[in-house]
Amino acid sequence: MQDKATISYDGKAADYPVIIGTEGEKAIDVGKLRAQTGCITFDDGYGNTGSCLSKITFIDGDQGILRYRGIDIAELAEKSDFIETAYLIIWGRFPTADERRAFEARLQEHAKLPESMTQQFQGFPKDAHPMAILTAMINAMSCHHQELFEIRNEADFTTATAILLSKIRLIAAYIYKHGTGDSLFVQPSDASGYTAQFLTMMFSWPGKRYVADADVARALDLLFILHADHEQNCSTSTVRMVASSEANLFTAVSAGVSALWGKLHGGANQAVLEMLQGIKDRGDSIESVIAKCKQKDSDFRLMGFGHRVYKNFDPRAKIIKVACDKVLDKLGKTDPLLQIAKDLEKAALSDSYFVDRKLYPNVDFYSGIIMRAIGIPTNMFTVMFALGRMPGWIANWKETNENPKARIYRPRQIYMGPKLRSYEEAKKG
Ligand code: SDX
Repeated sequence: MQDKATISYDGKAADYPVIIGTEGEKAIDVGKLRAQTGCITFDDGYGNTGSCLSKITFIDGDQGILRYRGIDIAELAEKSDFIETAYLIIWGRFPTADERRAFEARLQEHAKLPESMTQQFQGFPKDAHPMAILTAMINAMSCHHQELFEIRNEADFTTATAILLSKIRLIAAYIYKHGTGDSLFVQPSDASGYTAQFLTMMFSWPGKRYVADADVARALDLLFILHADHEQNCSTSTVRMVASSEANLFTAVSAGVSALWGKLHGGANQAVLEMLQGIKDRGDSIESVIAKCKQKDSDFRLMGFGHRVYKNFDPRAKIIKVACDKVLDKLGKTDPLLQIAKDLEKAALSDSYFVDRKLYPNVDFYSGIIMRAIGIPTNMFTVMFALGRMPGWIANWKETNENPKARIYRPRQIYMGPKLRSYEEAKKG
C-alpha cells in the first residue's frame, strides 16, 4: 500500500503520496498541495525540498556516505580513474574496454580548440578571474557547435560530452597561461591519459614539454573523481534548472560554472587557501581564528568547513587529507599551510560551536593543498573543481532531458511587497 501523509489546514485535510527512495529516503509529494489547500510550501534555501528523482548519486549526510551509481566513493577513489568514473556517472555503467578506447578517441579528437575560440582569449583582460573566462568559454561552445543545440541521438550526446570533457582542459590551460602571457599548446601523446595530458597542457612552455610524474597525475585524477558529482548541489541544480527550459547542454553547463564560482560553493577551495595563507602571514593563533567564528557580529567563517548535507565527515575530505601527505612526500615538499589546516581541524572538532552545529571539514578544506603542491595557482582552484564536476553536470542535464514527465522549473514565491497602489500614490513616496 502506498505510504501517505496527511496535511490539514484551515479545517480541511488531504492525503499526499510519500515517495520512498532506493535507500529509504522519504518525500511527501506535494504536487497537488496548492490545488487542494491553496497553500504552497516555503523552504528557504531548499534545505527540505527535493527537486527531482535521480539515479546518479546518493549521499547520506548523517552517515557520511557518497556513492556514484551505487558504488562507494572510497572504492572508486582506490580502484577507478576519472574517465572511467565519468563514464559511469554519465551512462550509469562502466565502459567495456572497447567503449573506453572509443570514448578516449573522441576525447582526443576534441582536445583542441578552433582558432576562432582561441582568439577569444585576446579579448579578456590579463587579470580577469579564471572563473569569469571559464564561464564565457564554456558558453562560447554554443557559438561553435550550433549543430548540437538539439541532441537528436546518442551520437550527438556523446560528441557534446566529449567536447565538454576534453576542451575544458585546454581552456583551463589557456586561462592559466593567459595570465602569464603565453598561450603555448602542446598536443600531448595519446598514451598519457586524460589528467596527465591536462598537466602537459598546463605546464609545458616554449621548448620545455612538461610530463607529469605518474603520482602527481594520479593525485589530480583522484581530486577529479572526488569532485565528479554530488547530487543536487547549487551548481548542479542550476544546470538542471537551465536544462528544464530545454536550453542546450553547453549553456546549461556554463550556468553551472557560474553558480560554482561563489565562495560558499566551489569558490571555497580558493577561499580556504587564502584564509590559511592569511593566518600564516599574520601569525594568527589557532585559538584566535576559532574564536573569530563565534563572534556574533563577525561574518567570518572557517572556509572549507560545514555542509548543507553532511552532518558528519565529508568522506571526500578524509580521502583528500590522506592524499595530501602522500603527494607532499612524493614531491619532497612540506607545506606549512597543511599543518595550519590540521591544527584548525583538530581545534574545531573539539569545540562545542562546531560540534553543536555539526560542522566538519568538507571537500574544499584540504583539496587546495594538493593543487598548490602540484603548482596550480590558487585562483585556478575553482576551475579545477569545475573540471572535476563536468561529468555530474552532463549526467544531470541528460537525466533531466530524458525524463518524459520533465517540466520547466518554475518555483512559486510568497509576495511581501506593497499592496495595490496608484502611480500617483507611489510617486508620493
Ligand atoms: C561545496 O552542496 C554541495 O554538495 C556542495 C559541495 C559539492 O560537492 O557540490 O559539497 C561543494 O560547496 C562544499 C561547501 C564549501 N563551502 C564552504 O566551505 C564555505 C563555508 N561553509 C559555509 O558557509 C556553510 O557551511 C555552507 C554554505 C557550506 C552550508 O551552509 P548552510 O547549510 O546554509 O548552513 P548555515 O549557513 O545555515 O549555518 C548553520 C550554522 C550558522 O550558525 P548559527 O546561525 O546557527 O549560529 O552554522 C554556522 C552558521 O553561522 N556555520 C559556520 C560555518 N558554516 C556554517 N560557522 C563557521 N564556519 C563555517 N564554515
